[in-house]
Amino acid sequence: MRLIHITDPHLTSLDSWRPGPSAGKRWLSWLSWQSRRRKRHLQARLTALTAHLDAARPDVWAITGDLCQIGLEQEAREAAAWLNRLASADRVLLVPGNHDLFATDSSESILRHWSDWLHVDPAAPEWPVVRAFDEATLIGLNSAVVTPLLKAGGRLGAAMRERLDHALEKSRDTCRVVMIHHPPLPGCCKPRKALADDRELTELLKRRGAALVLHGHLHHNREYRLGCSDGSETAVFCTASASAAGSQGPAAARIFDIEPASCGYRVSMRLEALDASNRAHTIENSEWISRG
Ligand SMILES: [Fe+2]
Ligand SMILES: [Fe+2]
Repeated sequence: MRLIHITDPHLTSLDSWRPGPSAGKRWLSWLSWQSRRRKRHLQARLTALTAHLDAARPDVWAITGDLCQIGLEQEAREAAAWLNRLASADRVLLVPGNHDLFATDSSESILRHWSDWLHVDPAAPEWPVVRAFDEATLIGLNSAVVTPLLKAGGRLGAAMRERLDHALEKSRDTCRVVMIHHPPLPGCCKPRKALADDRELTELLKRRGAALVLHGHLHHNREYRLGCSDGSETAVFCTASASAAGSQGPAAARIFDIEPASCGYRVSMRLEALDASNRAHTIENSEWISRG
């Protein structure tokens, strides 16, 4: 099974939008997009990277959020058109990021336009979303919450963590891949951007184990190993933005190949990144056996 992880494409344009008197915290983020962010995320980078990844014929795309800038309905619509071009919804699992669920009206927009890729009932959305594939079970979490100005943190909450606990237990005989936008482990970013219940999530992951945790939000490539109570290890990966340009460094994605092995699963990972000419290169690779 071939799984591709991309995250934080921030692919939508705010060219046709102007903040009105009720724009609230969108004002500041719109200014930040106009002055800096629009140069840090380029559509050409995303198009070049996804064309390269598509040629690798993935079975499933795992996308860990931040498709938008400020969670407008027009952005949800624009991102849905991009998702439509990327792959059929049965080959995608998307989880939202803080720039998608940016303001109180964002939830309605993303549920209306993205429910096929989120794999939730728009009338009664519930996370985690569990999707079983031949060799792996994908478990998508929603860590995005509407935050005050200058905050970008997330939260799962006790009920979602409890459902995650059950989902990990129920799928323990498969290769479990957990997807979340915010970093699941404490200390990965500034407190104002962190997951409020990262310690509780880490304890849960240590207790239940998982083969992989994929996340975004940091816009950097990072890799961590989490020791689990049964002696196994969970590999945690953050991937840089799939549209990154300029000071953001190279746009990147990860390709995972997962196959059953005698004592678990053989997992191989390739980190693909674009050079300045939008050509993709493998900049890291590794292979290990996971208990799942
Ligand atoms: Fe982001
Ligand atoms: Fe984010």
